[in-house]
Amino acid sequence: MRLILLGAPGAGKGTQATFIKEKYNIPQISTGDMLRAAVKAGTELGMAAKKVMDAGGLVSDDIIIGLVKERLTDADCANGYLFDGFPRTIPQADALKEAGVNLDYVLEIDVPDASIIERMSGRRVHPGSGRTYHVAFNPPKVAGLDDLTGEELIQRDDDKEDTVKKRLSVYHEQTEVLVGYYNQWAESGLPAAPQYRKIAGVGPVEA
Ligand code: AP5
Ligand code: ZN
Repeated sequence: MRLILLGAPGAGKGTQATFIKEKYNIPQISTGDMLRAAVKAGTELGMAAKKVMDAGGLVSDDIIIGLVKERLTDADCANGYLFDGFPRTIPQADALKEAGVNLDYVLEIDVPDASIIERMSGRRVHPGSGRTYHVAFNPPKVAGLDDLTGEELIQRDDDKEDTVKKRLSVYHEQTEVLVGYYNQWAESGLPAAPQYRKIAGVGPVEA
């Protein structure tokens, strides 16, 4: 099973990915998580990426495509994977197509912008695993601590209101076109075309 989770920042891609990867026993490839790991490790890539991420912009296509191509050669990707936050631009989607990746599904999570600011401001993350909570909508068992490890939860640096607004506008400018891109491909009926599904991102997490 190879699929893409498409959706605005804060739409719930990471949250839904947790369920899907367990159901299909496939790895989650989150370019955001990969970049945050590089930031934490203090690599050259991480230091350059941090500036862009904190400003709400997109890291360059060349860097992202390189990271993903390398990740796909790992043994755990042999039977499929779930992309979360990739592709985010037309060149990234084209690179995936040119690499001959056979996608089964593109799932779009649809959430109105108004809910997004609320979600990001209450988001808390376990840095070690990427597990995500919300102080009101999806709280941990003990406030401020990860359910599985008991370690402290943090707020992401790019979840400040100004940065969130910038990330949303970048989504509308550069990523939303992929909705049409994958819809058209799905409707083309070509042999390699993925199926396209739009799911409502509002309502309970488990729905
Ligand atoms: P990335 O980490 O991908 O961030 P994003 O796309 O902005 O998405 P988020 O992680 O903010 O949201 P999500 O959809 O995963 O929502 P979540 O499940 O956490 O990227 C970060 C940055 O890295 C980018 O800005 C860019 O700079 C760079 N980058 C990454 N990939 C790139 C690429 N391919 N190209 C270039 N640059 C790239 O949920 C959000 C909150 O809502 C949580 O608190 C959650 O508990 C809550 N929630 C979830 N579902 C529900 C629900 N149904 N009801 C109520 N609350 C809910
Ligand atoms: Zn995420």
